[in-house]
Amino acid sequence: MKAEYYKDQVAHLLRMVEQGHGDEAESSHKMPVAQFLDQNRLEREQQMFKRLPLIIGHSSQIKGAGDYFVKELDGRSWLVVRGKDGEARAFLNYCQHRGTKLVHDSAGECKKRFVCPYHAWTYNNQGDLIGVPRSDLFTDLDKSSLGLATGNLQEAHGFLWLTQEGSSSTIGEYLGELDQDLATMDLEGYHLYFDKTREINSNWKFPIFAFLEAYHLASLHKESIGEFFVENVAHSELLGRHIRSFVPRRNITELTDADLTNINISEYATPTNILFPNVCMIEHPTSMSVISMFPGATPGTSSWRHMLLTPEEPQTDAQRGHYDKTIAVLDGMTYEKEDFWVSEQSQEGINAGAIDFFTLSKNEYMIKVFNDLVNQHLTDLSL
Ligand code: FES
Ligand SMILES: [Fe+2]
Repeated sequence: MKAEYYKDQVAHLLRMVEQGHGDEAESSHKMPVAQFLDQNRLEREQQMFKRLPLIIGHSSQIKGAGDYFVKELDGRSWLVVRGKDGEARAFLNYCQHRGTKLVHDSAGECKKRFVCPYHAWTYNNQGDLIGVPRSDLFTDLDKSSLGLATGNLQEAHGFLWLTQEGSSSTIGEYLGELDQDLATMDLEGYHLYFDKTREINSNWKFPIFAFLEAYHLASLHKESIGEFFVENVAHSELLGRHIRSFVPRRNITELTDADLTNINISEYATPTNILFPNVCMIEHPTSMSVISMFPGATPGTSSWRHMLLTPEEPQTDAQRGHYDKTIAVLDGMTYEKEDFWVSEQSQEGINAGAIDFFTLSKNEYMIKVFNDLVNQHLTDLSL
C-alpha cells in the first residue's frame, strides 16, 4: 500500500518512535485464563463463527465455471463452486436424498454435475437437483425444492466469504472503514502463491494475540525478524469490530518530511489488519499474508491457514525463489516456529493450572480490546 494512504498513521508512528514508546493503556491488566479452558464458551464462539462472514478461500481457487473446492468448518463440509453463470456459491456438501456426503475429493475443475455415491442423485454446479434415477418410485417428487442447502457466499476483494447462518450485511458493510483499505490494496488481482492449513494445540485466539502486541518482537523473534523493528512501538486503531495496526521498522525515520506519494508503506512499517473474528492480514514489502484461525473441537486446539498472496503470478525461478525465501522466513520460522509455537506453550501453561490470569502490560492492551470484542459478540447475538 502507498504510504500516502496512511499518512496520518505514518506521522503518528514517527512521533511515537521519536518519543520512544507506542500506544499504551493507562494500566496493565489481569485477564482470567479459565475462559481458555471453557468448553461452553467454545461452543458459543463456534455459534459466533456461524453467523459472521469468514474468509474460506481465494477467488482464484475457482476461476472457471464448475471449479470447486470442499472446506470443512466445525465438523460440517461445504462445497464451494462457481456456477455456469459465473457466480460462486457455497452449499452444504450433503445429498438431499438421505444426507450422504456428496463430493469426496478436496477440489476439482470444470465440473458440470455432482453425482451422489449412494443412489446417484445428481446436482448441477448451481446446486439444483437435476437427476433422480427411477424418479417414478417417488410420489410428488418436487426436484426444484431439493437443491443443495446453501450458505451465504459473497465474493469481495479477491476472497470468498461464507456466512453459514443468516446475515444480510454485505462484505462492504461488514468491513466498514476497512473496506476502503482493502479496495485500495487492489487485492482482486493478487495471486494465491502459498496455501497451507495446520493444526495447533492452542486456543484459536492466541496467535491473533501475537499479532496484537509488539512487546515480544525483540525476544521471541530475535533470530528472525526482530532486528528490523523498533522495540515496543506499535499503533493500533479500532475500526468498528476490526483492528488496523502498524509496527514501525527501524528505517521509518527516513520518512520524516518525505514525499509519501511513491513510498511503499510496508518497507517502513508492517500494516496488520485484524478482520473480526479470525483473520490477520499482514502486509509485507512484496506480498501479503492472510492468516485465518479456526476453533478446534476443544478450547485448547485450533487450526490455522496461511495464504500468501503475491501481486502477480511469479513467472521466473528468480521470482519464485524470492517468494519461497519469504515463506521460509515468515511461515516456517517467524510464524510456525515462533508465534504459533509460543501460542501452544502458553496454552500448555494454562492447561497445567500454572496461572490464573495473563498479566498484560500497558502495550499488550489490544489483546484485551480484541478479547472484549469477542465477549461482546458472545453476549449480543445481534452483532
Ligand atoms: S443419499 Fe444421495 S442419492 Fe441417496
Ligand atoms: Fe510475532
